[in-house]
Amino acid sequence: MRRRDFVQGSLAVAAHAALQMPAANAAAPPRQIPYGSAVRGDALVDDPAYRTALADYCQLVVPEGGLKWDTVRPSEDRFDFYEGDKLLAFAEQNGMKMRGHTLIWYAAMPDWTSSIRGGKAAEKALTKHIRTVVGQYKGRVPSWDVINEAIAEDPRGSDYLRPNLWLENMGKGYIESAFRQAAEADPKVQLVINEYDIECVGEQFKNRRNALLRVVRDLRDRDAPIHAVGFQGHLKGEHEIDKEGVSSFVAELKAMNVDVLVTELDVIDKFLPSDEKQRDDVIAGRVTDLLQAISDANRPTAILTWGISDRYTWVPMYFTRDDGSPNRPLPLDRDYKVKPLMKVIDRFTARV
Ligand code: XIL
Repeated sequence: MRRRDFVQGSLAVAAHAALQMPAANAAAPPRQIPYGSAVRGDALVDDPAYRTALADYCQLVVPEGGLKWDTVRPSEDRFDFYEGDKLLAFAEQNGMKMRGHTLIWYAAMPDWTSSIRGGKAAEKALTKHIRTVVGQYKGRVPSWDVINEAIAEDPRGSDYLRPNLWLENMGKGYIESAFRQAAEADPKVQLVINEYDIECVGEQFKNRRNALLRVVRDLRDRDAPIHAVGFQGHLKGEHEIDKEGVSSFVAELKAMNVDVLVTELDVIDKFLPSDEKQRDDVIAGRVTDLLQAISDANRPTAILTWGISDRYTWVPMYFTRDDGSPNRPLPLDRDYKVKPLMKVIDRFTARV
């Protein structure tokens, strides 16, 4: 079943790619900063308009779930690269690059991993996973989210890291180990620590930025290979961006020679007005504030949204609206029409 799906999926994607390239965008001015989107493997195969939109607008793609442990590691001794390989083929056929997401995350872990116990066993499992997965795409994937969401929800004092299998078994050194293993597996790749809720006004956001700075500084002090911080950028429409806080955070990273990128941008519109135009304008405004604050201190190396069209977004899984209208978190609407958010992205990637 899977094998047949794979062949059909690849053929569908490949056949499409051949038709694809002389796209509407051929005449659009090039971007200075690459723009990309997270991609769902099933929609990639099933929806030609989705493929067209990705090929038209994106220089980068990243699998939304296809490289997480619960997909790649059905069991301790198996690696399943069906989803990653499928998206990479689509990317390469259309002149795009694929980012990797993610090597270490507390979530999306298959059940069998709960039997990993003790420092040695954990180190061995982490090493095997990172070496194999990064090795699979060596030289073809230019950037990896090595660590995703390492910071505690509400960091206080010495409790600034989020509990996970690796922290429990290896202590905080798991972070350094992960970066070192990834660099060993592909020395040329951009290695990223990726985090959410670090952009807005408020004590908790500030504490989370400071905790993340602490992790990065610690890695730098130990000469560990970390190259960039990823702002996930799952913005909440009702929260104001802490422009000064973001700029000074990015400046501190720059002083350590650590870049930034935006990895999972979208705006959660649960509490925004029903009126679509008003809603879209608030969304565009929040993203403008974030991208301006980052760019004031350092140019992001890439900007990716967590999906490209409101047709395929994770937002309604957690943030459905009380008025029953569909969420509008992304740069294209459900019919692939451009929304104000896409114009903001065009501006900050310098496509004018
Ligand atoms: C989400 C996906 O979008 C969902 O489809 C999936 O069910 C759960 O994960 N932060 C991340 C992403 O780093 O990996 C998450 O993606 C969204 C929040």
